This record gives sequence, structure tokens and C-alpha cells, in this order.
Amino acid sequence: MDKCEEEERELVALARRVLPGGGFGNVAHETVIAAGRAGRVWDVSGKEYVDYLLGSGPMIVGHAHPEVVEAVCEQAAKGTTFFANNPHGIRLAAEITRAVACAEKVRFVSSGSEADLYAMRLARACKKRDKILKFEGGYHGMSDYGLMSLAPKRAGNFPAPIPDSAGIPASVGAEILVAPYNDLEAAHSLISAHRGELAGVIVEPVQRLIPPKPGFLEGLRRITRENDVLLIFDEVVTGFRLAYGGAQAYYNVIPDICTLGKAIGGGFPLAAVAGRAEIMAHFDKAAVAEDEFMTQIGTLSGNPVAAIAGLKTLEILRRPGAYEAIFRTGMALMEGLSETLKRRRVAAQVVGVAPMFDVVFSQREVTDYRSARGEEALQRRLNALLRERGVLKGESKYYIALAHTPEDVAATLDAFGSAIAALLEAAP
Ligand SMILES: Cc1ncc(COP(=O)(O)O)c(C=O)c1O
Repeated sequence: MDKCEEEERELVALARRVLPGGGFGNVAHETVIAAGRAGRVWDVSGKEYVDYLLGSGPMIVGHAHPEVVEAVCEQAAKGTTFFANNPHGIRLAAEITRAVACAEKVRFVSSGSEADLYAMRLARACKKRDKILKFEGGYHGMSDYGLMSLAPKRAGNFPAPIPDSAGIPASVGAEILVAPYNDLEAAHSLISAHRGELAGVIVEPVQRLIPPKPGFLEGLRRITRENDVLLIFDEVVTGFRLAYGGAQAYYNVIPDICTLGKAIGGGFPLAAVAGRAEIMAHFDKAAVAEDEFMTQIGTLSGNPVAAIAGLKTLEILRRPGAYEAIFRTGMALMEGLSETLKRRRVAAQVVGVAPMFDVVFSQREVTDYRSARGEEALQRRLNALLRERGVLKGESKYYIALAHTPEDVAATLDAFGSAIAALLEAAP
């Protein structure tokens, strides 16, 4: 074993001693990543990976993009946080209002979880009603309200939520209604039956990897409007990824409120709630009555390092051809993976949209959380085989970066072919 491998082994052992479960709670703990550049990362032992984890999405232009690094270093030398307005944060908010159709005003926070928590609270403050409707399998962060029927192990009865975590007060479940994603009829009947107590509907426009059926988002928009309920798009993943204007631009459906994260922080902790001015007024003490005001403070909110990283990332994404390149890479990979699965007669399919997708080990049509649950053990095994072959990805997603090259795609398809062969050998 060389020195670097020994160092990685020691770090994994140290992590087991000092971190619950040996990790930060995110992905596989036996890999300790030391560096990243463009579409690749390196672990402490020096092993190189084509990286589709992309920090769980923020690194959409690639790791350590020279322009982002330069801007961040320049700001870091001038101070990293002030707890006061700063030029980069103000300019980032202005850029978001230019790009995102529903965003007339922006409130920064530090994580997508916080953004979703405040977006739901904002809907409640606005409508003076308590309930929120979400879709089974939809991810809206780690708050007590977000962790309802995100990944239920058993099929519950709609609209009763199943909490995803220990420690959530039972009373929270009473304020959340759950519907099946892509089932407009079910959503319609729940929204109209509960309109007197429902403040908002929160949805991932592309739920994890599942694209909306034609008419689903448009239908939600119409039904929420007809019932005087606010529509919240959780665009933490889709914002500046499906298109510069996010999923609301891509599908041409404009919500009342959206949340943004990942891409807008350029790899630093920054997320946002955005929406129409009269809704966002609840964050402004001077604009609403005292009992309608939403206190909201965060030590690092809008900090200048994250804001300039986000601004630079958006500047790079605005350049001609950026989204075409992301979609071209994603399509090439989706097609290549599908073709291998077909050729090897694997009972699996590629699900998603070009900037984010994965293999699901099931042949059923995937339209909601229940139909998206394939053979998860096979997926975990495939991910491990890919990791051995120099491809790093999340548990259930490939994220595409602008920095991924045709060579990255070719290396991935080679690794995928070999990983599938190994998978079939073990369980033909
Ligand atoms: C759709 C969606 N919403 C919210 C979040 C939470 O964001 P964060 O991890 O920044 O708290 C995530 C995280 O992956 C997400 O995918």
C-alpha cells in the first residue's frame, strides 16, 4: 500500500471514530475526496473519477472553474462575511429576478432545506391557513415539514403523511397532505376538499428524476389559482439547470413562490426563496401588519463569497451554447446507458431529463414515487461497481456539468459496460 492509500485508510478509520455512521450523512464513506477539477474528482489515495455527483448538484459548471476560483479568492481576501448587505449579494438577487419568472423579490438563506421551510411558512403567513400539500417522494429538505413521505418504506393511504425521521412531533403530520405525483385528479380533489385550510402546494417540477406528465404542472397552476392556494416550485435542483430560467421557463408554468439553491451558490452555502412582490412583502416589517410579518435572519445569508461564486456561475451559464452543451452531454450518456441495458437485456431503464437522470431497475412506466422504486439493491451494487471503475455518482442520480467532455462520456460508457457485465456475472 502506498502512502496516499494509507492516509485514506487512516482517514476512513478516523471518520468512523468521530462521525456518526462514519460520515457526513451524505454518500459512501469509504471514498474521501481530496480534489476536483472540471468534470473529475480525486480521492485521497489518488484515484481519479469522472464525477456525476457534482457536490450533489452545485458544481454545474464543473469543479474549481478558474473564473469562479479567481472571483472567490479576490473576495475572500477582502472579507468573507459581514451580516450586512454587500454588492455581490445585491447583484445576485437582481440577476435572479431577471432570470426567474416568478421572482420579483429574493430572500437569501444558506441551504435548500431552509429555503423550503421558509417557502412553506410564507404560504401559511400569506393565506393565514396552516396546511401544505406535497407529493409522495418529493424532496423538500430536512425540516419537520419537509420530511413527510419523502421515502416511505410502506405505502400509506393518501393524503396521510408518513414521517421520514425520528424526532418529528406527531402534530406536524396533521398539517401536511400527501398526494401521488403526476396524478392531477387526486391533487384536484384534495385541493378543492381542503381549500379552506390549505395555504400552499409544494412540488418539485421534475420530482427527483420523474418528469411531469404533459399538463400536470399546468393543471396544478390552474387548480391552485381556482382554489386560492399558493403554488410553490421547489427549484433547488431544477433552478438554472433545466434552463437558465429553471423549470418554470422550461415548462412555461409560473408558480407564486419558488425556492432555489445548489447552482446559485456556485459551490458555497447559499439558497433563496423568491416570489411575487406582494407575497415576499411578508419578509418586510414595513410592508405588512405586525402579525403578518415573518421574522427571518441567518448569519451567512447572502454572504459575499457564496454570492460572487453564484454570480460567476450564472455568468458562465449565460454564455451562448451552455445549456445546449449540458443537454448534448446528458443525452449522449442517457442514450449510451440505455443502449447497454438493452444490449445486455437488463430489466432496467434510464429515467430523467438530460441534465439529471439515472438507471432504474424496473420496466414499469415511471410516473410517481411508487413506480420509481426499482430494485434498489441492484442500483446500490451498480453504483459500487461504477465507483471501482472510476465513476462517482449519487445514490440515485447522474448530474451533468458544463465541464463534462466527450472523453468523460466515453470513459463512463466503458465503465458502465464493464460494471453491467460484472453485475450480470454475480446475478445473471
Ligand atoms: C429538490 C430539493 N429541495 C431541497 C433540497 C435541500 O437542499 P439542501 O441540501 O441545500 O438543504 C434538496 C437537496 O438535494 C433538493 O434536491
